[in-house]
Amino acid sequence: MNSPITRIGGKKLLRKTICERFPEDFDRYIEVFGGAGWVLFYKDKHAKLEVYNDADGELVNLMRCIKYHAGELQRELDGYCNAREFFEDISAQLDMRGLTDIQRAARYFMRMKLSFGADGRTYGCNTKNLSNAIEYLTDVQHRLLSASVVIEHKDFENLIKVYDRPKAFFYCDPPYHTTEKYYDVQFSEDDHMRLYNVLSAIKGKFLLSYNDDEFVRELYKDFNVVALERNNNLSTGKFKELIITNY
Ligand SMILES: C[S@@+](CC[C@H](N)C(=O)[O-])C[C@H]1O[C@@H](n2cnc3c(N)ncnc32)[C@H](O)[C@@H]1O
Repeated sequence: MNSPITRIGGKKLLRKTICERFPEDFDRYIEVFGGAGWVLFYKDKHAKLEVYNDADGELVNLMRCIKYHAGELQRELDGYCNAREFFEDISAQLDMRGLTDIQRAARYFMRMKLSFGADGRTYGCNTKNLSNAIEYLTDVQHRLLSASVVIEHKDFENLIKVYDRPKAFFYCDPPYHTTEKYYDVQFSEDDHMRLYNVLSAIKGKFLLSYNDDEFVRELYKDFNVVALERNNNLSTGKFKELIITNY
């Protein structure tokens, strides 16, 4: 199934290729940098235990509200409209205190839907009919509940250490090197190094998606690195990606 939202860096176009490269035997699947969860939602179930994680609290609150309160979220979204002023108002409200989790999730969801390229910042002037997207939240709730997906809100390093086992499989899709600024949560050069250090020491397996870049290639030179090309989400050009594994 599809993710309920689009997100910069989302793996909509690569998810099939990524899943074909998953290892055979794992009993826990951990999506470390969950984002819109395109890879998670691609299958009905990846493993007995599935974990969605992201450091962005708005995104995590949205996923949690879809999982536990989809009906209330849909009622809150009923009557929201697609207009520039409305987009600006809900964006401003997200910076204020006093919203309930459901009100906050509804505004965040709409902000992503109405923005240009899902950047959350610029009104997209699109003519999308949003009622289908709102109805679709019921299917997403079903996916999250039926497989009992655990929703975490942690920094990647602690998350990986907590869930690491010989049969754990971590799918990692961090902010790409040099394009970190597109996310609300900051990611620094030091974070790229921290990720390398923690992944180098795990008992389980990992698959890491990255942009094809000298820094990344040098850092992961002792692992298996495969180069791929995909269409760029926002332009007509091609984008070079790396898939890095420890198996
Ligand atoms: C490239 S996106 C993931 C896209 C996702 N695979 C998808 O298909 O939508 C990277 C994500 O990492 C999250 N992130 C940034 N810093 C993080 C950290 N320290 N720990 C965990 N997640 C983090 C961002 O909020 C963002 O959602």
